Formats: sequence, structure tokens, C-alpha cells
Amino acid sequence: MTTLRRTALMTLVALATTSGFAVAQTAKEVKVGYALAVNSHYGAAAQTWADSVEKSTKGAYKFKQFPASALGGERELIEGLQLGTVEAVIVSTGALSNFVPEVGVVDIPFLFRDTAHARKVLDGEFGQDLLTKFKKRGLIALAWGEQGFRHLSNNKRPVTKAEDIKGMKIRVTENPVHIAAFRTLGASPTPMAWPEVIGALQQGTIDGQENPVSVFVSAKLWQVQKHLSLTAHVYAPMALIVSPAFFGSLSDAEKVAFIEGAKAGALASRKFVDDVEKKAVTEIQSHGVQVVTKVDVASFQAGVAPAYKQYAAKFGQATIDKITQTK
Ligand code: PAF
Repeated sequence: MTTLRRTALMTLVALATTSGFAVAQTAKEVKVGYALAVNSHYGAAAQTWADSVEKSTKGAYKFKQFPASALGGERELIEGLQLGTVEAVIVSTGALSNFVPEVGVVDIPFLFRDTAHARKVLDGEFGQDLLTKFKKRGLIALAWGEQGFRHLSNNKRPVTKAEDIKGMKIRVTENPVHIAAFRTLGASPTPMAWPEVIGALQQGTIDGQENPVSVFVSAKLWQVQKHLSLTAHVYAPMALIVSPAFFGSLSDAEKVAFIEGAKAGALASRKFVDDVEKKAVTEIQSHGVQVVTKVDVASFQAGVAPAYKQYAAKFGQATIDKITQTK
């Protein structure tokens, strides 16, 4: 072989190798949007999901995170999935039941006895079946993560019993079940997208809000709230969802990678919440918030009871019983 031909051959080999690497290195981007900071239960879920998929697909997919509502509120995130403008989101059930009405059943106050009960239901047949309901609404839900139980905070007064919230302007999620609960309790529920909440609390257009302590800490709500009451009035799951257009483009093995990654992400959110809950009250108190730890929960249960008729009519008593009777 002449020197010239050898050089040409080596150039070709080099080009092929380079383009081979180039193919391997051009990972497909997966945009994942969520409401809170990276250092939150949402961030923990997103990072674990990303790590798992990136590893099992050998780098064929790379997640790009959009935390802190960078892609909009949860309603916009879900719409983005339906439109295919975002590949993945992690959202609370706040806005979800406007898209998948069946999900609203898990938002019923005092439905779950405790965290273990909620996890058992969501990981069991009921919760897994609920995930399948997303498909006909143009969404592919892969796993249930967690935020914790929601508690009430406000700037008016320490709330120890249901009567204390009468007339109080409380921001609730854009969720008919939550709205009905607070209206039944005699408060003035104000549905609002999360990105507007801190400004509204600052300006005093609302008196309070309700969210798990994981959110209170992540969003530093001590900057805008004086009182927190551990009402634990409703369990708050979150869902890891992908867009049907994106999911449909995956091979079967890649689909498994995304599903397994989402499950790992969901577990990471639960672990994060477990850890936060151990120290959240002390941390929140250290920022000057008055925390009512002994709330008359029975007064809230009694106050919200008239709404149960409405919930039963909407979701079916048998469905509600299936959840409450899970041991
Ligand atoms: O209250 C809400 O809207 C949600 O709990 C939040 C804070 C956006 C987290 O999903």
C-alpha cells in the first residue's frame, strides 16, 4: 500500500470513529419540569430518575431539569406534556384532577390514616390502576411519589380548631376536592397557581395556604407566614409523568428504563420527605413561625364531613371504601 493510500485509509478510520463517538455522545434531551427547587423532594425524584435512565440507557438520554416552575405552573406543565413541548414532569395532584378526574379521589381530606396507608394504596392495585387512567387523557403516568400530609399556615392567628379558619382567605390548589373541603369548613378558599402564592402572601391578598412541611421548608414559607398548624388534613402524592409523544418514540427496553427510573425517583421523594419531616418543625420554628403541634383534628374532620356526600356522588362510595378499607 502506498503512503498516500495508507494516509487516506487512516483518515477514513479516524472519521468513522469520530462520527461513531459523535452518535454515542449526542444524547437525546429529556426536559423535566417541576414546581420546587432542586434541593427538594421534587429535585430528589428528578435527579434519581435522571441518573437511573442515563445509566440504564448508557447515556442515550440526558435529563435537563427545569425546577422552580421555570416552565410554568403545574397546569402548564401538564398541558406541555399533552402538547409534547416537554418530555417529563413531576406534579402534585393539585391541578391533575382537572385533567384526570378519577385522581381527585386521593385528594379527599382524612382519607388516609397515615403515610404507610397512603403508600400501600398507591403502590397496590388501586394506585397502579389509577396510573392507567391517565392514558385516555393524553398522559403517561409512571409512578406515585410523595410530598407528605398537607398542613395549614396563615398570617392571621394560631389555628387550633376548625372554627379558627372561618372566613380566612386560604390559597388552595386548583382542585375541586380541596376547594369543596375548605368551603365546607367555612373558610374562603382561593384557588391559585403555585407561582403566584408567595407574592399573594406577601401582598396580603390571601391570609394563608396549605402544603406539606416539605414544601414549607423548600419554599422558605417562613418569610411570608407567621403561623403553621399541623392539621394533616390531606395526603399529597405527586406523579411522575411523561408525554405520550415522547414515550411512544421509545423502544420497549427504553420504556422499561423510564418506568424503572420513575419508580426509583418516587422512592427517592419519599425518603427525602421522611428525612425532612424529622427536622422540619424545629427548622420552621427557628425562623420565628409559631407552630401549633396539637391541633383539634376531630373538629376539622367533623367540619369537613358534610362534603363527603359530594365526594361519594363524584367518585362512588365503593371506590372510597376500597381505599379506607386497605389495611
Ligand atoms: O400547593 C401546590 O400547588 C403544590 O403542592 C406545589 C407546592 C406546587 C408542589 O407540587
